[in-house]
Amino acid sequence: MELEVEITHLGAQGDGVAQGPEGPIFVPFTLPGERVRIEVDPGNGHAALIEVLAASPDRIAPICPHFGICGGCALQHMEQGAYLRWKREQVVAALKSRGLDTEVEEVRPVAPGTRRRAGLTLGRGTDGLALGYRRARSHDLIDVAVCPVLSQPIAASLPKLRAALAPLMGGKREARITVTQTTEGLDIVAEGFRPTAAAFGAFAGKAVALGVARVTADGESIAMGAAPTVTLGEMEVKLPPGAFLQASRDAEAVLIGLVREGVGGAKRIADLFAGLGTFTLALAGNATVDAFETDEAALSALSEAARRTPKLKPVRTFTRDLFRSPLGAKELQGYDATVFDPPRAGASAQAAELAKSRVPNVVAVSCNPGTLARDLRLLVDGGYRIACVVPVDQFLFSPHIEVVAHLMR
Ligand SMILES: C[S@@+](CC[C@H](N)C(=O)[O-])C[C@H]1O[C@@H](n2cnc3c(N)ncnc32)[C@H](O)[C@@H]1O
Repeated sequence: MELEVEITHLGAQGDGVAQGPEGPIFVPFTLPGERVRIEVDPGNGHAALIEVLAASPDRIAPICPHFGICGGCALQHMEQGAYLRWKREQVVAALKSRGLDTEVEEVRPVAPGTRRRAGLTLGRGTDGLALGYRRARSHDLIDVAVCPVLSQPIAASLPKLRAALAPLMGGKREARITVTQTTEGLDIVAEGFRPTAAAFGAFAGKAVALGVARVTADGESIAMGAAPTVTLGEMEVKLPPGAFLQASRDAEAVLIGLVREGVGGAKRIADLFAGLGTFTLALAGNATVDAFETDEAALSALSEAARRTPKLKPVRTFTRDLFRSPLGAKELQGYDATVFDPPRAGASAQAAELAKSRVPNVVAVSCNPGTLARDLRLLVDGGYRIACVVPVDQFLFSPHIEVVAHLMR
């Protein structure tokens, strides 16, 4: 059904929202105040944009030719100031929903072309073999010839990788491919491959020319040369296949700066959900740091980097499931700062323990304002005061946002 509607605001996924005859209608790639003609998808409250009849003054030309088709980006059509204000509002709203009326700073912008990890799908697209993203709210695969969000080495390699990786699928319809830019070249982790020895041999022969440093297919790794490393802050750390990495190197630098400011002059720090040690290694120049994490491979890469780096204060690593077994208030005694950077689910069990602790400085890093707000509420109820909240635009043009919050008691 075709309709003409006015977009009143953006929803949490960055789609424009209009009031339709039967309730809200979500229209991607539109902006508040716009009058648009849409094709409504009956029964699910979503619509496709047919035409913008009256454009918002905030509408700009997208920087990517795939925008509007590819589901990777939701918000390239919005002027940067308005876009960053909207992202900040998402954080304000999440905190408000937990009764936290805290000042939220301006969003720290991150430049395009700085994303060093991409999660892509390889398979049949509408026009043949494709390596790219899905069309928004669809299973259709879009072959991505350019992607201005990705770092140049990843973006430039996509067409060649598509052709070279396809024979490794061994008849499977689709494979999930994560490409990471490392110092030694591209690190590729694939799920859903079924390579024959001959196909793998043929790929290995081309890998160096393609700039590929390692391929891990369904858990089995084959490095083409030296094991891949990534630079975290200023330190080189070996990258275990699949270990967490902050998506953008520029965003990582901003996060490290904010975490450093938050811990101040602390001399004993606990880094919880430490991963490869993005914060541990940055903080260990001035403080002894205990790093807690479930991923053993990440922790051993972190310890090895710490041992190799001169002039660091002692770093200790602990394999620990902080959901089931958070550090208790007693164990937290003696730390003068704690950093916690959990997955999207947040860290309610750990936040509840921190809330009972006497740790003077707590820095929370999160890619999910909703669970962050829940965890901050626990800390505030335990007597902490929120000193600052800073959003960082790590997930450029998507509705997602990274946030750093500093709390004190
Ligand atoms: C958002 S990442 C942050 C990693 C690190 N702080 C960084 O900046 O690179 C979250 C980390 O939490 C770890 N993790 C997930 N579940 C966990 C759990 N239950 N207990 C401890 N660590 C966990 C993941 O392995 C991942 O390294």
